[in-house]
Amino acid sequence: SVLLLMNGPNLGILGRREPEIYGTDTLADIEAAVAEEVSVRGWDVLSVQHDSEGDLVGALHRHSDSTVGAIVNPGALMIAGWSLRDALASYAPPWIEVHLSNVWAREQFRHESVIAPLASGVVVGLGAFGYRLAAQALMHLSTPAPL
Ligand code: DQA
Repeated sequence: SVLLLMNGPNLGILGRREPEIYGTDTLADIEAAVAEEVSVRGWDVLSVQHDSEGDLVGALHRHSDSTVGAIVNPGALMIAGWSLRDALASYAPPWIEVHLSNVWAREQFRHESVIAPLASGVVVGLGAFGYRLAAQALMHLSTPAPL
């Protein structure tokens, strides 16, 4: 099984992007952390990062049938990423929205996410560790209910 790890604009430069807000972990560190979490299930991680919305939409189309769930940090597309939102609406597996920073402790324009109403859950403000939590939550969600 493959978990889709999706990061939006400006998240490819994590580690040197406003580290006082986003921490010093790089995207490669986060990929490794998520891979470690899901390895207990024998899952693999497919990581995609794009700065443009259309590329994220295309990746969702391409990988929707071949992935069991997704972790999505939309970056600033949380604010008005309507085509990302629509692509996620037709992405069937469960997915979780992650933000490294506590968006509600920041500027007003970050206080609402257009994709959050469609997410199975949202992890906010816990830094890179939030991606591990999201990975655990997706494994939990995919556990077949006991009889
Ligand atoms: C972010 C929060 C967004 O508001 C911001 O535009 C980002 C990063 C986060 O992970 O905290 O690019 O998604």
